[in-house]
Amino acid sequence: MTISSLLSRIDWVGQSCTLLRETATEFERTQPFEGLTIGTAIHLEPKTVALLMTLKAGGARLVATGNLNSTQPETVAYLRTQGIEVIGGQTTDEAAHHGFIDALLDQNPEILLDNGGDLFARVAERPYAKLRGGTEETTSGRTRLEPMRQAIGLPVLVINDSPIKQFAENRHAVGQSLFESYMRFTNRSTNGKRVTVFGYGACGKGTAACFKNAYSAVSVVDIDPVTTLEAHLDGFSTPLRDEAIRSADIIVTVTGYPAILTAADTGLLKDGVILINGGHFPNEIDVAALRVDASVKRVDSYGQDGIQTIHLKDGRRVHILSGGHMANLAGPRPLGNSVESMDLGFTLQARCLERVASGKLDASMCVVPVPRDIDAMVAAAYLDLHR
Ligand SMILES: NC(=O)c1ccc[n+]([C@@H]2O[C@H](COP(=O)([O-])OP(=O)(O)OC[C@H]3O[C@@H](n4cnc5c(N)ncnc54)[C@H](O)[C@@H]3O)[C@@H](O)[C@H]2O)c1
Repeated sequence: MTISSLLSRIDWVGQSCTLLRETATEFERTQPFEGLTIGTAIHLEPKTVALLMTLKAGGARLVATGNLNSTQPETVAYLRTQGIEVIGGQTTDEAAHHGFIDALLDQNPEILLDNGGDLFARVAERPYAKLRGGTEETTSGRTRLEPMRQAIGLPVLVINDSPIKQFAENRHAVGQSLFESYMRFTNRSTNGKRVTVFGYGACGKGTAACFKNAYSAVSVVDIDPVTTLEAHLDGFSTPLRDEAIRSADIIVTVTGYPAILTAADTGLLKDGVILINGGHFPNEIDVAALRVDASVKRVDSYGQDGIQTIHLKDGRRVHILSGGHMANLAGPRPLGNSVESMDLGFTLQARCLERVASGKLDASMCVVPVPRDIDAMVAAAYLDLHR
């Protein structure tokens, strides 16, 4: 008789994180976190579970809280069944979130895993003796914590500053996931479509490449002439901004800066254009101003699909995905970046936390990139598994 089990998405993601699984097997033997508590403030979603279970396998006691507005209740429930203490839950209330951060720090964890700098910024105000240091996942957290180095005075390794994170997640995974989001939201094809990508940084490079590989004609606009030259030499057309907007069937913004497309551009937009933002903040496309511009006749929304259509008085239609929020984390069934890219990023996390736990780092390593030897170790391990 065949035995069949109904497993969850969390199980699928855990199964897919092959590098973390291998790391967990090693940690079960080496116990790098034996007797230590790790406090974490990172998105509580299925991919994070794979990281936390790896740390637990290494002997850590874990106390976890989420980031603002991204905690998934199923993930919290799952973590609790695994004996992981979770403080708080999904909230958009900043005061409540800060309460969770304080409650976590009240437990004096020896090591912290931070995402956006909430934990270490608070540590700068209320240090405690047992803390050995930790990690910060993001660029925004790094920027926030850099001026606090003196007050923190402990090793803090910044995962986003690893070249692996830059190319595996920002370049390849964001590009794929924005491309997937366009199809997921719209169910429209990419073939022969004219796509304009604003921003040719790590995320823009991947986005431009994915649409090009899907038979779109891709243009790139970047304010930096050196980067624009790079796009040109990579084979993308690089028309001037107005022409790039005028010709586009699809416009993607991934710059990290506000007001990339504004109501002043309404006159340039092609009938039926689809506007997508992949940048962190929902201000790259000024959706609020576009909706109330004098040229607008009415605005339609399509159910739960996250598509809004602005009907202009001259008959043109402008479609906007997820109200200008990061499209790959919004709309129907948003899955975010690929499991493999997170497997790599979170293995960097696990190895950096192991290094902090070893006590071999000092305060000179406060808010610095991942050590080169950890990058090399993680890259070699991934290649061994996937070549
Ligand atoms: N959606 C996701 O899952 C995800 C993941 C990682 C990063 N991000 C976000 O994507 C954004 C871009 O990240 P990145 O790593 O590619 O940044 P980056 O700094 O490498 O690249 C940004 C590019 O935008 C260009 N730019 C700036 N202003 C511009 C303008 N007015 N017009 C045209 N180009 C302009 C810059 O010259 C630069 O080349 C950030 O907001 C980042 O937080 C999103």
